[in-house]
Amino acid sequence: MLTPALSVRGLSLQYPGMEDPLLAGVDLDVAPGEVVGLLGANGSGKSTLCEALAGLVEPASGEVLLGGAWVADCQWHALQYVPQDVDAAIVAPTVYDDIAFTLENRGVLPADRPARVDELLTTVGLPGFARREVIYLSGGERQRLVLASALAAGPRCLVLDEVTAHLDAPSAESVLQIVRDVARRDGIAVVMVTQRLDECRWFDRVSVLAGGTLSAPRTPASVLYDTPLLERAYLSPPLVVRLVQELDARGVPVGDAPLAATDLPAALGRCSA
Ligand SMILES: Nc1ncnc2c1ncn2[C@@H]1O[C@H](COP(=O)(O)OP(=O)(O)OP(=O)(O)O)[C@@H](O)[C@H]1O
Ligand SMILES: [Mg+2]
Repeated sequence: MLTPALSVRGLSLQYPGMEDPLLAGVDLDVAPGEVVGLLGANGSGKSTLCEALAGLVEPASGEVLLGGAWVADCQWHALQYVPQDVDAAIVAPTVYDDIAFTLENRGVLPADRPARVDELLTTVGLPGFARREVIYLSGGERQRLVLASALAAGPRCLVLDEVTAHLDAPSAESVLQIVRDVARRDGIAVVMVTQRLDECRWFDRVSVLAGGTLSAPRTPASVLYDTPLLERAYLSPPLVVRLVQELDARGVPVGDAPLAATDLPAALGRCSA
């Protein structure tokens, strides 16, 4: 693996009133250009971990390093965090102003801002939205807007908490593709929380948070086909995984490990060939 852009070491955290630590010795390395998915049941601590990565909650122990420096000491734009509640990340009444605010803080000259805003809006699939009022945007459009504003900062690390939650399936796919492409193009380390396990195929590696512990990141297939791991985390595998496991149990092994229903016909074709 390349030298990690983001390094988490022994991160532990417990909110007042909790009997056990919410995070107990969490380790994670994310390389530049890599997209790591973060899974976990409701209340398992995914958003808290994201906030700790962004330096918004202080852990009891452990460290979060960005390019080797403690995240709280890094320049504000180095790590961009898109919270689960996207409205909390929107700072201006119009789409243009929201993105331009970040560009201004990054020192982009006023004359250069309109073209850069248009470029970012095209990247996130909102071309022509610059003059729209934020208040009238749909939930999915807001999620794309906050992604554009986060990208406007030119971060080295992106922490995205359920940014596809309000999107229909094709829109979610398109945002996942955008995130992966931008990560690859700009060498951004991405941590992406999702509740939709079928989205894992867009991630390079996947970790599961359960009982305060984060599993070591592994390939999407090795996580989604690890039934004991998912059961411990109170997660259900995608239907396609259950189908392949059922076929396997009935003596029809599917050689591949498809992660999406769309991959199944090809996998079955190879299996019967
Ligand atoms: N500031 C806080 N003070 C006290 N408890 C908190 C605080 N923030 C979160 N919690 C608790 O910590 C636990 C983990 O919350 P968190 O939001 O991190 O979970 P999550 O995995 O993101 O869940 P979800 O899938 O529902 O978004 C929950 O029990 C929550 O009530
Ligand atoms: Mg959450």
